[in-house]
This record gives sequence, C-alpha cells and structure tokens, in this order.
Amino acid sequence: MEFYDLLRKRYAARQYTDKKVESSKLAEILEAARIAPTAKNLQPFKIIVCDNDESLGKLSKAANIYKAPLALLVCGDMEKAWHREWDGKLSQDIDTAIITTHMMLEATNQGLDSVWVCNFKPDILKEEFSLPDNLVPVHILVLGYAQGERPSLSRFKERRKAMAELVSYNRL
Ligand SMILES: Cc1cc2nc3c(=O)[nH]c(=O)nc-3n(C[C@H](O)[C@H](O)[C@H](O)COP(=O)(O)O)c2cc1C
Repeated sequence: MEFYDLLRKRYAARQYTDKKVESSKLAEILEAARIAPTAKNLQPFKIIVCDNDESLGKLSKAANIYKAPLALLVCGDMEKAWHREWDGKLSQDIDTAIITTHMMLEATNQGLDSVWVCNFKPDILKEEFSLPDNLVPVHILVLGYAQGERPSLSRFKERRKAMAELVSYNRL
C-alpha cells in the first residue's frame, strides 16, 4: 500500500466484529515493534499480548477497549530507558509511542483496524498484570476488524488544524 494511502486509511475504530486476528498478522505487527528505533537502541519496553477472555477482561477493568478481540498493552521500562543527563528526562514514553505507532500502521497495512487507548487506570493495570515497579503501562493498542461506517476522508480537512497553525519555518 502506498504510504499516504495507509496513513489516510487508518482511523480510530471503536466498534469491532468478533473475528479473531490471524496469528500471522499479529506476528508482523509485533515485528514492526521489534525493529522500531528507540533512544540509544535501549529498547526499554515490554508488550503484553491480550488475546483471551481473561487478559482482555483485565484490560477492560482499567479501560474501554471496545470489545475488541485483541489488544496490546505497551509498557515502558523505567530502568532500561535512556536518561538525558541535562534534565533527567527518561525516554520510555517517546520510545513506546514510536513502537505503538509502528504497530498501528502495520496493523493498517495488514487490513486490520485499531484504536490507541491512553485513557486507562494505570494502578488497575499494574495490579491486574502484576507489573513490577520498573514497568509502567503507557499505551494500549486495540486491534481487530471494525464494523460500522468508516469516517470520511474529509475529516483530515475539517477536523485537523491547518498547516500554518502547526508549522513555522525558522522562527516560532
Ligand atoms: C496518544 C493517544 C491516545 C488516545 N487515547 C484514546 C482513548 O483512550 N480512547 C479512545 O477512544 N481513543 C483514543 N485515542 C484516539 C484519538 O481520539 C483519535 O486518534 C483522534 O481523535 C483522531 O481520530 P482518528 O484516529 O480517527 O483520525 C487516542 C489516540 C492517541 C494518539
């Protein structure tokens, strides 16, 4: 698929059929995460694949995952993340966002639908998945086959800011 076609095809899908995601497609999605760039190549992340009733139920206690058949819990590793010496900033939120973006776009490439979920209760996820202190849940990528109407491509014109509002050259 041409790259911009893929970018325009993706949308936040909030209604799913029961159809399971093929394991070969999931493997490609996870490979897209594995090869993603991270700060200093430290790869400070863990992905928990939730594809059964028990783990999807645990996620559902913390977030709306729209009854999808598959969701990936992306955790940042605070102990392995790159640390910027000048201000102490840790890279795990940036690294995991790149990883999640890679997986989301590969999901579109595989003909799947997705929605990125950050509106979750972190304490519940930490407890339900027995996460150690160094692992922080940062993103949930919900995946499956959407049902319902696809949003119109006109949203990129109507519901996105104009370029001039977002970008400036050589000064603010
Ligand atoms: C970092 C991030 C967090 C998001 N969190 C949620 C969420 O918790 N629940 C949800 O339904 N959608 C969530 N979304 C989806 C956005 O609302 C959606 O991508 C945005 O409104 C643009 O719509 P589109 O993806 O259909 O183009 C999130 C998206 C991003 C990138």
